[in-house]
Amino acid sequence: MEIPGDIGRVLVIIPTYNERENVEAIVGRVRAAAPSVDVLVVDDNSPDGTGDLADALAAADDQVDVLHRTAKDGLGAAYIAGFRWAFDRGYDVMVEMDADGSHQPEELHRLLTALRDADLVIGARWIPGGEVRNWPRSREALSRGANTYARVLLGIPLHDATAGYRAYRATTLEKIGLEEVDSRGYCFQIDLALRAVRHGLRVVEVPITFVERVHGVSKMSRDVMAEAFLRVAQWGVAGRVDRLRKR
Ligand code: GDD
Ligand code: MN
Repeated sequence: MEIPGDIGRVLVIIPTYNERENVEAIVGRVRAAAPSVDVLVVDDNSPDGTGDLADALAAADDQVDVLHRTAKDGLGAAYIAGFRWAFDRGYDVMVEMDADGSHQPEELHRLLTALRDADLVIGARWIPGGEVRNWPRSREALSRGANTYARVLLGIPLHDATAGYRAYRATTLEKIGLEEVDSRGYCFQIDLALRAVRHGLRVVEVPITFVERVHGVSKMSRDVMAEAFLRVAQWGVAGRVDRLRKR
């Protein structure tokens, strides 16, 4: 399927921490599925040498670049650094994609096609047509629970606000303003979705098939979950206070 030609310059940003067994395959799949699209790997100085592997890929392909950061600083911080890199180079669309194959590059055209009539497109699992392959029941329950929690506390009409396969217009990131975002871990995803909704931007969910990784391990941790749980509660309360004030 075709990537829409009228969408402007697209950069796929792939954050990596210890993804040595995955980085080459994911970059190759993006380049094959969407030859017009550029790729940026944002590596947090992975001890397993992912950054060196990414450098080799970049050396062999003009459309692949690497941003090296000094230490593991969380998914959100890595994406913000990637977005800034993209702004400096004039990209029109910034895509978020995991390195481990969970987000299939072959579905990218569906996100970008939907972005024609949206400001942010989220590749969603928990909507009709969406799917998750090879997740244990416990992880599915966690993700569904986190999404229900976020939807109820924040009052946002989204079914997969934690999802990490997304396409943003550059203008969307400009409007929501990255300077104030200080979410480090995965709650970064909820944070940006919430900001987009609160700014009255068009946020659209398209169904994706999320395929659990085969190689390497998840970086989800208790700390990451605790940060998300607390922050969502804070944002929920702050939003309510705001609405009361405006009455
Ligand atoms: N640079 C960098 N720094 N990359 C990171 C860091 C970090 O601190 N933490 C995680 N990553 C990268 C991983 O290497 C991977 O490419 C991607 O971020 C996602 O990490 P996973 O550890 O595979 O996430 P997951 O499968 O548990 O979580 C998925 O579901 C979450 C909840 O729905 C992802 O899709 C998340 O984006 C999503 O929020
Ligand atoms: Mn994963």
